[in-house]
Amino acid sequence: MKLSQRVRQVKPSATLTINAKAKALRSQGVRVISFGVGEPDFNTPHPIGQMAVQALFRGQTRYTPVQGIKELKEAVIRTIQADYGLYYEPDEVLVSCGGKHCLYNLFQAVLDPGDEVIIPSPYWVSYPDMVRLAGAEPVFVPCAESRGFKMAPEDLRKAITARTRLLILNSPSNPTGAHYRPEELRALADVLMDYDQVMIVSDDIYYRILFDEAPWANIAMVEPRLKARTFVVNGVSKTYAMTGWRIGYLLGDREVIKAAGKIQSQSTSNPSSVAQWAAVAALSGDQDTCRHMVQVFAERRTYVMDRLRHIPGITCHVPDGAFYVFPNVSAYYGHAVGGRLLQGSTDMADYLMDEVHLAVVPGDAFGEDRCIRLSFALSLEELREGFDRLERALQKLTPTAT
Ligand SMILES: Cc1ncc(COP(=O)(O)O)c(C=O)c1O
Repeated sequence: MKLSQRVRQVKPSATLTINAKAKALRSQGVRVISFGVGEPDFNTPHPIGQMAVQALFRGQTRYTPVQGIKELKEAVIRTIQADYGLYYEPDEVLVSCGGKHCLYNLFQAVLDPGDEVIIPSPYWVSYPDMVRLAGAEPVFVPCAESRGFKMAPEDLRKAITARTRLLILNSPSNPTGAHYRPEELRALADVLMDYDQVMIVSDDIYYRILFDEAPWANIAMVEPRLKARTFVVNGVSKTYAMTGWRIGYLLGDREVIKAAGKIQSQSTSNPSSVAQWAAVAALSGDQDTCRHMVQVFAERRTYVMDRLRHIPGITCHVPDGAFYVFPNVSAYYGHAVGGRLLQGSTDMADYLMDEVHLAVVPGDAFGEDRCIRLSFALSLEELREGFDRLERALQKLTPTAT
């Protein structure tokens, strides 16, 4: 069968691939520890599920308005107003099937062939492929580990051309956990004020998962004059352990929201009606379970950083948020083990899977081959076992000087 040009330039998601590999081994009875997961290991809080059940029995099971039910849009507007101090009208909100779908709709609505999208690297795996699917070109700005994986304003300025249409910011970040402080956003905003044609996507999906009471802000909060060209992507997946429910929301300029809604109307229509009601409960209900989850993630981060510090040759930036660490394991590259040469993060991920049945995501998928991504959305017991395995596997290799 002939496949389209479009699909041929897209890679399958590396995270999903690694999880499929882990699943296949498990089905053979192997105990795999997966550091590959990209979702909280908590269950969706009970009241949220109850709301979905009630919606189901009330018969709220039919098509809803494509852009989302009024009650959910209102809950989103209230939440964003409380957390960001920014106000949006209902026609500036689009509810979609997860944050991922928001990004997809937005890119389809605003990008054309020849347009450039600036993506600070390391980046979330899906950004470049979604940009390519819209016919545009990703332009990567390397962000050094020594700078906490954050983009310098001068590097942003250098990357902007007459073709730049979008900049993607993601804070806290997947895969590094790096978070931009308000003054760092201010410096980026100063650059962006010189380039009217550049719109900004603020992917805030991890904004509630921040440690040490770090102050959170996005670029439109820091520079209100950028609000008109900033698109906020957020959703319930990570904050409320609702990854499977598929509810995300996009906020921004009403003309673009309308256009993104048109793309949605011709592809998926509305997101699941009962999931929308569940999201109303998530946003309107008690926020304590989310606070508890963040506390647990913070304890795990401490444990994970402690284990990593004790492994020779590894360097690792301490994540400010989300539930990932992105250690640099390149000191172990260039070694042969059992007749195979480890040359990069994919070889390392394969080696760890084969040698000790530990699933990690190669940093290459996030634009940084020196690193691997480890998720700490696992119980402490599993983390302990996983790090024992990691140590065991790495002991068989000798690190080179970094
Ligand atoms: C940075 C980032 N943005 C967006 C998403 C999409 O989240 P959702 O599950 O709401 O589609 C993810 C999910 O892993 C993510 O890591």
